[in-house]
Amino acid sequence: MQKLRIANSKPVVFLTGAGISAESHIPTFRGEEGYWTVGSKHYHPTELATRQAFSELPMDVWAWYLFRRTVCRRAEPNPGHLLLARLEKHLGERFLLVTQNVDGLHLRAGNSLEKTYQVHGNIDFMRCWKECCTDLFPIPLEIGDLERGEALSEEQKAILVCPKCQGLARPHVLWFDECYDEQIFRFHSSLKAAMKCGALISIGSSGSTNLPTQMVTQASARGAVVVDINPEGGPYARMAQAGGGFWLREKAGTGLQKVAEGLGLT
Ligand code: OAD
Repeated sequence: MQKLRIANSKPVVFLTGAGISAESHIPTFRGEEGYWTVGSKHYHPTELATRQAFSELPMDVWAWYLFRRTVCRRAEPNPGHLLLARLEKHLGERFLLVTQNVDGLHLRAGNSLEKTYQVHGNIDFMRCWKECCTDLFPIPLEIGDLERGEALSEEQKAILVCPKCQGLARPHVLWFDECYDEQIFRFHSSLKAAMKCGALISIGSSGSTNLPTQMVTQASARGAVVVDINPEGGPYARMAQAGGGFWLREKAGTGLQKVAEGLGLT
C-alpha cells in the first residue's frame, strides 16, 4: 500500500467491527455462521436483541447473552487486537478506538478504557433494568459458562440482580430498539472524534449500524483519509475509495500491519 498521507499532528480513529474478532474465532453477526444468521428453534436471534424481548422473556435473553459471553471468554486477543494496543502507545494522544464489539478483547489486548469507546456495550457487564442508576457491574463470576441453548438454573437467575436496588439486571449491550447515548455509549464523543480526525481506519465492519456509518460519512466529508480493511466490499470500502482513501481487501491482522507501517510503527 502506498504510504498513508496523514499529517503527524492529526488524530487517528480506529473503528472496529466483528471482523477483527473473527480471527479469534468469535462468529460475526451477518456471516454464514453469524449470530444474526443462525436461528434457534423458537426465535430469530435478532428478536432476542431487543428491550421488547427482555421485558417479556428476560431469562431467555440472558441465557443467549451468557452463551455469547462464554464464547468471548474462551477467545483470546489475536495479532490485530495486539497491534491496536501497540498503536495506542505509539500514537499517544492522537489515538482513539471506537469498537462495535462487545467481546472486551481490545481491553484484554491492552487498549485503555479511556481510549476505547465501546459503543455497543460490553458483554461482561450488566446494569440495572429499572435504571435505578447507570452504573456498570461486572457479571458475577459464579455465573460460570453457558452452552448454546442451555437454560439458566435458579441459582444463576438469583444473582442477575442490580447490586444497588436488588431489582433485575440486564446485559450491558445496545439493543435494536434502543438509541445510542453519550453517557453510556459515547455517541457524541465518537462523532466529534470522526469530525476532527486526520484518518479513520475501519476494520471488519459490514457498515450496517448507524453511529459507525455516520462516523465514516463525516470523516470522509471533512477530507480525512478513510481506510477500510475488509476482505469483502461494502459501503465503507466504497466511501473510502470515493474520497481518495483505500480499501485494503485483506483480513484484519494483515491489513492492520500495513496501516501500522504507514503510521511509522515498525
Ligand atoms: P457483521 O457481521 O455485520 O460484519 C462483519 C464484517 O467483517 C463483514 O463485512 C465481513 O466481511 C468482515 N470480516 C469477516 N472476517 C474478517 C476478517 N478476518 N478480517 C476483517 N474483516 C472480516 O458485523 P459488524 O459490522 O461488526 O450490534 O456488525 C455491527 C453490529 O451489528 C454489531 O456490533 C451488532 C450487530 O447488530 C449490536 O449488537 C448492537
